[in-house]
Amino acid sequence: MTSKILNIVLALAVVILAVELTLAKQNATEPQAETANAETSALTAIAQRASVRAYSDQKVEEEKVEALLRAAMAAPTARDSRPWAFVVIKDRNVLNAIADTLRNSKMAAKAQLAIAVCGDMTKAMEGEGRDFWIQDASAATENLLIAATAQGLGAVWTGIYPSAERTALVREILGLPEHIIPLNIIPIGYPAAEVTPKDKWDPSRIHYDRW
Ligand SMILES: Cc1cc2nc3c(=O)[nH]c(=O)nc-3n(C[C@H](O)[C@H](O)[C@H](O)COP(=O)(O)O)c2cc1C
Repeated sequence: MTSKILNIVLALAVVILAVELTLAKQNATEPQAETANAETSALTAIAQRASVRAYSDQKVEEEKVEALLRAAMAAPTARDSRPWAFVVIKDRNVLNAIADTLRNSKMAAKAQLAIAVCGDMTKAMEGEGRDFWIQDASAATENLLIAATAQGLGAVWTGIYPSAERTALVREILGLPEHIIPLNIIPIGYPAAEVTPKDKWDPSRIHYDRW
């Protein structure tokens, strides 16, 4: 009788050990699975991004706006100079002033907000490297646009710099100091209609090893 009980206890112990080992193995593989999902969603957001110029009346949550700015500032910059500054525009009067003044940014009138991505010349590299600020601010902009798509938002890059006329108009509307150059204005909101990205894949543009 005692040995029978001992056998049952032993069998139970083996089963518990087996279950624990299986669970431990599952936990160990989880981070890998998470990484794979994160990669998939990044690629999906990149592929789904398209310029969105019509927005619904739905408000954009504060956390989503912060996520856009975090994504922008996560971008690489030359010598890690981070020569950017962002103006988050929610004031309807300012959005209307942008729409009324800049022909190419008319959609700001219907946007819930807009973000002006600017270069800060006090942080830009000196000499020949100064213009790297344009690439730095562009990388930040693209990150922001992808983050907008990933969060179900719609946005469009409306170009300001290097147009001297547009730059002067935006400088005036936003009260920008001399050392701040607006690269673009990005109107943002929830898309008014379904977004269909263009398929731009073109293998003929790729060269391998030499031209
Ligand atoms: C530097 C730059 C400037 C742009 N300026 C404007 C603009 O002033 N107004 C506008 O409606 N779209 C503007 N766009 C968006 C382009 O028109 C758009 O990216 C292009 O047509 C490709 O479409 P997609 O973004 O949907 O892929 C600009 C894009 C870039 C990169």
